[in-house]
Amino acid sequence: MEVVIYPDAERVARHGAGLVEAMLKVKPGAVFGFATGRTPIALYRRLVERHRAGAVSFARTTSFNLDEYLGIPADSPQSYRSFMDREFFDYVDIERENTHLPACAEGENPQRVGPAYEEKIRAAGGIDLQILGIGHNGHIGFNEPSSSLASRTRVKTLTRRTLEDNSRLFGPGEFQPRLAITMGIATIMEARHILLLATGENKAGAVARMVEGPVSAMCPASVLQLHECVTVLVDEPAAAGLQYREYYDLANRENQALIERFGAFYADD
Ligand code: PGA
Repeated sequence: MEVVIYPDAERVARHGAGLVEAMLKVKPGAVFGFATGRTPIALYRRLVERHRAGAVSFARTTSFNLDEYLGIPADSPQSYRSFMDREFFDYVDIERENTHLPACAEGENPQRVGPAYEEKIRAAGGIDLQILGIGHNGHIGFNEPSSSLASRTRVKTLTRRTLEDNSRLFGPGEFQPRLAITMGIATIMEARHILLLATGENKAGAVARMVEGPVSAMCPASVLQLHECVTVLVDEPAAAGLQYREYYDLANRENQALIERFGAFYADD
């Protein structure tokens, strides 16, 4: 894992957006895996700015989101479809029909959504760059602790902690789904590159367990240790629990020197 620590969340977003931009240069028709949540919002804003400046285009890209709630319609303001429109899609030139979420239409059997979603990802050629956040409990997507590390896209019951974390998005008395459809851990692991962002002190424990703890279903993000191309961008507060911090900084200085000399972020460059 490449762990890069920045002084603040703004720089995490800027460097994350830089990696998306680098991917678009190499592959203008890249397939992206997008995430919702508070963390990636700053990255999406930065990408919108870069798009407005004429620096990036998503016109040829395809996207697959990690997850979607089960039981609320796509046009509800709390759906992840609405989140993506509001925070990103409405302001860039991505074709609406090329944006996908694992949504279950009214009356559809939710158990069928996962396999169909997997097939769509395969048909698009697989995900080139997957953006991830991390839950306080170490979840990625809605793969909660104890999720099978071999799981595929499926219906998942949310933990009490996740429901609490996300309750801010629902008004008093409003229906908050307890179920979601999420890409599985094995699905996420098939992405060619993974970019995980974590900011704020409440992520410090999860970040330390992900990077330095044992690989365990009790911290689903720890499985990323088995992926060959993961970049973890964190701010200082989120890095506070890392034991090998000094080594990551040293390795980054060396990597920077190599990049300055040879360029190339991606193997397929
Ligand atoms: P957050 O969510 O960005 O809102 O903290 C991250 C996650 O739960 O994956």
